[in-house]
Amino acid sequence: MYGLLLMGHSIWRWIVLLLIVITVVKALIGWLSKQKWSNLDARLLVFSRIAVYIQVVLGVILYTVSPMYGNVQFTGGHVIVALLSVGGLEFGAARAKKVADGVNKFKFALIGFAIALVLVLLAIGEATWWKLA
Ligand code: HEM
Repeated sequence: MYGLLLMGHSIWRWIVLLLIVITVVKALIGWLSKQKWSNLDARLLVFSRIAVYIQVVLGVILYTVSPMYGNVQFTGGHVIVALLSVGGLEFGAARAKKVADGVNKFKFALIGFAIALVLVLLAIGEATWWKLA
């Protein structure tokens, strides 16, 4: 059970990273070249968020059976940082949905998802550090 969850959580990180990176790059290009906001752009925000939520659910279950349960440094550096990344995604997606014009949609998606990307990378870095330590 633990091994399977750890493997799933470990592999799923690549889906999370791929989707967030594509979303950030697409938002940056859209913002700089003043593109029209398309259905694909809206869908990328949704798919990235779903991928992260799946990762969080896997992580929460994994946490309960992991030797890292209750470890203050791991919880602060991995769990809390990963959960904060959800704030970036939700901020970007909510603001992008609220504003009317395309350029601002790209701008908010870019800001929120770039913040999330940095936090996800930090969370992965912390988990990798523990694995190597
Ligand atoms: C975007 C969100 C997240 C990403 C990208 C992510 C990524 C990772 C990665 C790459 C590992 C190392 C896997 C390995 O050693 O092969 C890991 C381990 C782990 N993560 Fe996450 N994680 C995320 C969120 C969470 C959350 C929200 C929790 C808990 C509530 C969590 C709990 C854990 C636990 C318990 C481990 C395993 C520690 C161990 O037993 O070695 N993760 N995570």
